[in-house]
Amino acid sequence: MAHYYNEPSRTFSEYLLVPNLTTKDCMPSKVSLRTPISKFKRGERAKVELNIPFASAVMQAVSDHNMAVALAQCGGISFIFGSQSVESQAEMIRKAKNYKSGFVVSRSNLTPEHTLQDVLDLRERNGHSTAAITDDGTPTGKLLGIVTSRDYRVSRDSPDKKVGEFMTPFPSIIHGHAGITLSEANNMIWDNKLNCLPIVDDRQNLVHLVFRKDYDRHKENPGELLDTNKSYIVGAGINSRDYETRVPALVEAGADILCVDSSDGYSEWQSETVRYVKSTCDVPVGAGNVVDREGFLYLVEAGADFVKVGIGGGSICITREQKGIGRGQASALIEVVEARDEYYASTGIYIPICSDGGIVHDYHITLALAMGADFVMMGRYFARFDESPTKKLRIGNNYVKEFWGEGSNRARNWERYDMGGKQSLVFEEGVDSYVPYAGSLRENMDKTLSKIKSTMCNCGSMTIAELQQKARITVVSATSLVEGGAHDVILKESSLSGE
Ligand code: IMP
Repeated sequence: MAHYYNEPSRTFSEYLLVPNLTTKDCMPSKVSLRTPISKFKRGERAKVELNIPFASAVMQAVSDHNMAVALAQCGGISFIFGSQSVESQAEMIRKAKNYKSGFVVSRSNLTPEHTLQDVLDLRERNGHSTAAITDDGTPTGKLLGIVTSRDYRVSRDSPDKKVGEFMTPFPSIIHGHAGITLSEANNMIWDNKLNCLPIVDDRQNLVHLVFRKDYDRHKENPGELLDTNKSYIVGAGINSRDYETRVPALVEAGADILCVDSSDGYSEWQSETVRYVKSTCDVPVGAGNVVDREGFLYLVEAGADFVKVGIGGGSICITREQKGIGRGQASALIEVVEARDEYYASTGIYIPICSDGGIVHDYHITLALAMGADFVMMGRYFARFDESPTKKLRIGNNYVKEFWGEGSNRARNWERYDMGGKQSLVFEEGVDSYVPYAGSLRENMDKTLSKIKSTMCNCGSMTIAELQQKARITVVSATSLVEGGAHDVILKESSLSGE
């Protein structure tokens, strides 16, 4: 007879935290969100730790090298998506690892043949007020000029005016040469009162741009996540098919931690992949996704350094509708955490747990941590920001960004569904969608982090480990859910903008 669970599958929204005593020294500014993401023995430290418990999802629409850098600057980690060729994924890892804070690859590029209208369109799309003008319109072409908002007047100039007619041409641009240090570049910026300093090689090809505002930002990044060489820490997704070629290339490129990416990780394919990584290199590898004790223990047995939890809770996920498998994210997490704690008690080995998918409100993150997750992985949350790799579009009066599932036709990534690459699936497990554009990662994360720290203080906890020990969690009834939002009032316009 089939096994039936006694409890229904529950989601985060069905729970609330009950406050503990907040002592006077419990202040959000003193809360530490440092957290382990690779296994360690009792009394030792994890090889990889984060400064904030955030990972960006292994997705085309979320985690490229730009997201990896932006998130590491805030203290979290990106797992760069594996649904691309080995070469291009390795290249993204290299870019993130080689990124020298302050030196950026130009993201707004045009040629002299483009028009003022193109400049305005690009500016609206990217939000950058500086465009590099190169011979071929790429970020590494021959630098011919720079356009900033000081070079044109929209009210006076024709939209058809050619960029070549109003750009500041190369001979008039103060520039640095490749090899210059960041502090030399910044001195040039200050001495010459510049906002942007292009760096070119000896053939005048553009290499980087250095912005005054990035220098300031660098000083504002005390929590950035760096390795011992002062490069950003970056993760990479792998799959259970081409790991023998992909893993060595990613490790060579500098990946600090890997994660086998699959919607159902309780499989022999996954176990083989983890065993391969453990026997061939020294880079930690996480595995998943699982939703129960058996799946967790199976992956730990294979050697997983962290275990990822969640099937069917992702915002773009239709796995439950299509296949009828999955489990409410909270129920899955609670069971896996229980198994992890027992495993720790009996072996002295702590396996960090990642709660993956289904975070809708910021408080869901705090709940996931309180329930025992060591970090959360999010897709939709990060897809909304400037730093995600997708296009920003205007629909009516609103800006949106594109966001599609790894199991959607668009990602053409069926094989991630761990059928050993032999069986191709003929239905989708993810949708192609838009998410509301939300601005910069840092601004949004600062708000989210303040909420988490503030709630932790309500729960009398200064660290994630303390929160996991002390948290008191209650199930909410359907009626009390209504009580939790604004109710029985007529909201003013200004209160209607969501989270
Ligand atoms: P979100 O934070 O709710 O958007 O969920 C992101 C998570 O959804 C990812 O980390 C994956 O685990 C999962 N996911 C990504 N693409 C798909 C898909 O196409 N189908 C099902 N789940 C997906």
